[in-house]
Amino acid sequence: MISKMKPREHWGRDDSHTMHKDDSSMVRLTLQLMQQNRPQVMVNLALAVIFLVDFWMSAFNMFHRLLIKLHIIAPLADNCVPPAFSPTSPPPFAQWPLTHLLCRGVHVYNFLTGYNEELRLHHDLYCRKPKNEWIRDWAYWEGIGSQGEWGTPFAAADSDSRCPCPGLNILATHGIIHTSGRKVAASKMVVGLSRAFNIAPTMALQLYSPLFPVFSARGHIFDLEDLSIMNVIEHDASLLRPDFHLADWKKDPKAMCRPHQDMIDRWFPARLKHGQLKDDMTDRDFAEALCIRRNESRRHNRQYTSNVVQSLIGSGSCCLMLNVFGGKVLDMREMAGSVSRDLPGVRTTEHGEQYGYERIPARTIKGDKVQGCPMAAASHQQKWQPATAKRFFGMTIFEALWTTFNIEMRARA
Ligand code: HEM
Repeated sequence: MISKMKPREHWGRDDSHTMHKDDSSMVRLTLQLMQQNRPQVMVNLALAVIFLVDFWMSAFNMFHRLLIKLHIIAPLADNCVPPAFSPTSPPPFAQWPLTHLLCRGVHVYNFLTGYNEELRLHHDLYCRKPKNEWIRDWAYWEGIGSQGEWGTPFAAADSDSRCPCPGLNILATHGIIHTSGRKVAASKMVVGLSRAFNIAPTMALQLYSPLFPVFSARGHIFDLEDLSIMNVIEHDASLLRPDFHLADWKKDPKAMCRPHQDMIDRWFPARLKHGQLKDDMTDRDFAEALCIRRNESRRHNRQYTSNVVQSLIGSGSCCLMLNVFGGKVLDMREMAGSVSRDLPGVRTTEHGEQYGYERIPARTIKGDKVQGCPMAAASHQQKWQPATAKRFFGMTIFEALWTTFNIEMRARA
């Protein structure tokens, strides 16, 4: 078969994005991804197991409505972010079957190994890790508030550590990992994001997998800003951060890890051609935005780098915005850390640019009478729920891949 692609020695600096254009079939894209993504052997093996489990979960997600009709499982509670649980008080089996079984298993394991709450507190306080924390941590969850509300966001200060990922910064803003963003244990972070955004455990682990070889030497404990290492997950031409080589590092040392109001305003709200505001963004809008950013970076950034993995990570982030935040423009503005009129803790760069911090969209709903306070007529609670709420096992890798490939193929078209 004669290849339509140019021989490798003739590729120019900017050709990485156009090299697939001749034959941009999904099979070729997948083959290139497999060729370029060669992590450690153990990570590969773990990923294979994760994919198998994920396949099972995706099938379960597809049929869960039927299982509810057949009364095999109970429907999910309104509040899909699970309330607090631990090995000694697991969540109900009918709603969280796997977590229930895991909690029971970990309870027995804790009993046999003499691990208790006191030891856990000690580990948390000194950022030590118990043995087998990757299994153990899945059995603990502190919840997000007694009524399922996310609470007041913590305005990050200069001393706090933040990363280029709005999703992870939100975990720190709402105290799901330590608000300082320092000495974060990867196992706790992965568990936190899986529970908070209703992302399947397999998908949450897969999101962390590129960093596994990077942080193994230091026991998977890091400050959030350490995630900005270039071209592991952080990449050029992303929607919400400038390219590494285009940032003014002297005047703005936090350029990669803080929200950029101009970029937020540029992509959210997305305007229709006749200038009307758009409520929800679709995969087409994200693909168009990515395409514009990639072309811009190629033109203006002399050190622009990209390969198929980086591109898919870029469209993968868009997939998270679409699937977790439902593509809702107003929600995504808050997720991305936009400055709003009453936002406390807004900071200013040396250039005089104002910027906020990433947070859960403040969607208040009128609730029933406040518990224990019969005089209060109605309460207003912050009740944002991830758009992944209706999937029994949360967003799986297969679902994410489907959306990611959709966005990527459109961006390349
Ligand atoms: C272990 C899990 C995760 C890791 C290690 C991670 C890491 C990163 C990194 C390093 C970036 C910067 C990419 C760049 O702009 O160059 C990023 C971007 C992003 N991440 Fe994450 N992330 C994770 C999970 C999540 C989750 C669960 C969400 C959503 C709920 C999320 C949403 C985003 C978004 C919206 C972007 C910005 C994309 C853009 O600017 O185009 N991430 N992530």
